[in-house]
Amino acid sequence: MQKLEQIYEGKAKKVFATEDPNLVIVSYKDDATALDGLKKGTIIGKGAINNRMTNNLMSRLEKAGIPTHFVEELSDRETVVKKVSIVPLEVIIRNISAGSFAKRYGVEEGILFDAPTIEFSYKNDDLHDPLLNEYHALALKLATKEEIDLIKTYAFKVNDLLKAYMKEIGIDLVDFKLEFGKTADGTIVLADEISPDTCRLWDEKTHDKLDKDRFRRDMGGAEEAYEEVMRRLMGDK
Ligand code: TMP
Ligand code: ASP
Repeated sequence: MQKLEQIYEGKAKKVFATEDPNLVIVSYKDDATALDGLKKGTIIGKGAINNRMTNNLMSRLEKAGIPTHFVEELSDRETVVKKVSIVPLEVIIRNISAGSFAKRYGVEEGILFDAPTIEFSYKNDDLHDPLLNEYHALALKLATKEEIDLIKTYAFKVNDLLKAYMKEIGIDLVDFKLEFGKTADGTIVLADEISPDTCRLWDEKTHDKLDKDRFRRDMGGAEEAYEEVMRRLMGDK
């Protein structure tokens, strides 16, 4: 599959056209941002890890009944995916308190919830991705009621599956962000990535952070943390 012109560049990935109007190639970068893009840096090797980890997890989710955009891994950093229009909602599932939840509600990090929570943000950089509920999403026509219901069903199922995959490798899945897209025929599929950029992953015994919080919070050791997750998940770097 040939890469044609670049059609989009985001904070962590570039997207290229292909000869097939229904397929695009994503190319993962080592660039890392946080605090709404204010903090910029590099996590060396992250692009290759996030590409391979996303593809590994999406293939397993697909087999378990979650439709995804994944088509074929081309190389360390590049993957063919279905062309979708992204539903402008960031879907966040939480199992344990951390990050903006702990801050917003004034609780410590690390409290295990009785049941997972779900929240949506409006994916809009100019507005700094404001939190919204389903009624707001409907009012703004970001998706239909049926699409939002399906997205919620998929998101909770992804949580059950991912939690189990992570537990197998000694990791607690604290929280994560998903994005969904619509293919040309209107099918809702899981899109974007599932990686230490988009999940909080804590070692189940030491509670060490194995994710992008090491970069967000200037803790050091981000590269090693990403490599550790990759090693546990795929038995190599
Ligand atoms: P939060 O606690 O900052 O709201 O983040 C919740 C989860 O969502 C965490 O796993 C990190 C992920 N996330 C993203 O992937 N992209 C983002 O822009 C933000 C704010 C969070
Ligand atoms: N990726 C987001 C940003 O650039 C935030 C984050 O992941 O913390 O601001």
